[in-house]
Amino acid sequence: MRIRIINGPNLNLLGIREPNIYGKQDYPALVHFIEEAASRLDMEVQILQSNHEGVLVDWIQECLNEWNGIVINPAAYTHTSVAILDALKAVALPTVEVHLSDIRQRESFRQISYAGQACIATFCGLGFEGYAKALEFLHNRL
Ligand code: DQA
Repeated sequence: MRIRIINGPNLNLLGIREPNIYGKQDYPALVHFIEEAASRLDMEVQILQSNHEGVLVDWIQECLNEWNGIVINPAAYTHTSVAILDALKAVALPTVEVHLSDIRQRESFRQISYAGQACIATFCGLGFEGYAKALEFLHNRL
């Protein structure tokens, strides 16, 4: 099973950005964590990160006929991007949304998730573990 994992803006600054919210571990540590989780489940993953909305849309579109599912943390674009929602709807692959922090307990502008409207599950507030839960969910589902 081949899953593309797409991370949005500022996640490359994990460990530096607001460690009280996002933790002290850096982005390479997240990549390592996901690779370990995927290998335990015998899943093939590709882990990508971009700060650019259009690049994220391109990566979603490329999944068509190439990947079995998507795990996405669109970061701030979660709350603004109809383009990402439309791309997810267009490819119509099983997609799971992940957020390190619990967006439901934060500012009001984080309460809306556009991308989440095209996702079959959301894991938020679990830190890195949310990505492992997302992979397990897809593993059981597909
Ligand atoms: C985030 C939550 C978003 O609201 C925020 O803009 C991020 C990260 C998370 O993983 O908790 O950049 O997606």
